[in-house]
Amino acid sequence: MKFSSYILGCGGYLPKKIITNNDLPKKLNTTDEWIKTRTGICQRYIANKKQLNSDLGFEAAKKAIKNSKINNTEIDLVIVATSTPDHTFPSTATKIQGKLGIKKGFAFDVQAACSGFIYAISIADNYIKNKQARNALVIGSEVFSRILDWNDRSTCVLFGDGAGAIVLTGRKKNSGIISTELYSDGRFYDLLYVDGGVASNQKAGHIKMKGKEVFRHAVEKLTNCIETNLKKNNLKKNDIDWIIPHQANKRIMDMTANKLGISKDKVLVTVDKYANTSSASIPLTLDHALSKKIVKRGDIIVFEAIGGGLTWGCSILKY
Ligand code: ACO
Repeated sequence: MKFSSYILGCGGYLPKKIITNNDLPKKLNTTDEWIKTRTGICQRYIANKKQLNSDLGFEAAKKAIKNSKINNTEIDLVIVATSTPDHTFPSTATKIQGKLGIKKGFAFDVQAACSGFIYAISIADNYIKNKQARNALVIGSEVFSRILDWNDRSTCVLFGDGAGAIVLTGRKKNSGIISTELYSDGRFYDLLYVDGGVASNQKAGHIKMKGKEVFRHAVEKLTNCIETNLKKNNLKKNDIDWIIPHQANKRIMDMTANKLGISKDKVLVTVDKYANTSSASIPLTLDHALSKKIVKRGDIIVFEAIGGGLTWGCSILKY
């Protein structure tokens, strides 16, 4: 039996306020039909003015720890994947660590845009395998509403706020993270970027995106990445029970599955309800699938994401 990083539990948090496509400001000159057909998005959740990233991440973390049936004090590593931290420093991870009353171990943020959660899992997995951490809390938390230009219909309709978290623990078990592939290519940084500062509690910059080009890169790069990872681990496409993609666009998810030759029924989708929550979208979708009893222990799952950088990657795991 291999020593691996096993998902003990998962939790998600969404702010109270829902904005449907029809609720979007009239001046945007968009329609419910355009947004639904081009992206699959019907609505998004938006944080209230007082809520910071750490508030959302903290709520998701509490649920993940509760579902893991461990105490906060057993966590010795906190990683937050985010592009919308509370401050430039200290990290959102240390703020959440403090709010949880964890006094041991270490905490830091990871910034890989929408691929952040995959990067964070890979880092936590390595610390666990090297026995530098025992129980890692991996959080994806975002308040993208703070970095949207609400006059730009080509970007502001796509995103939402939210947080998701998992607890990874080192165990000798036939389940856990099998392998993660990570990539980046900085030549494409200007396809998707924010033209301003870091902190989400002040005047940050706004998202700029060449959507069509990102779309093209997404389908090609995600397909290759998943195929490479499967091959490295002697796995076949048929072995996959579920794909949990980063939730950017339903058409990207469908086209990637199609190119891989995997049924769309195996692709778990929440973009209709949550829109694109960047690094929070994978743990939020896992949390949704677990609460609906769709994903079960022993299932083979692929997490995959692409985002600004460009960064991309995928994890294969046995839940
Ligand atoms: N409502 C109505 N019309 C719109 C809207 C809108 N909200 N937005 C754009 N349009 C218009 C455009 O102005 C354009 O009009 P024109 O033909 O008169 O010039 C037309 O619709 C087509 O625009 P495109 O940008 O070509 O539309 P496309 O079909 O490519 O869809 C989209 C745009 C949804 C953004 C798509 O390209 C996409 O999803 N791209 C990938 C996004 C992504 O995956 N991002 C990565 C993760 S995010 C991260 O890392 C932070």
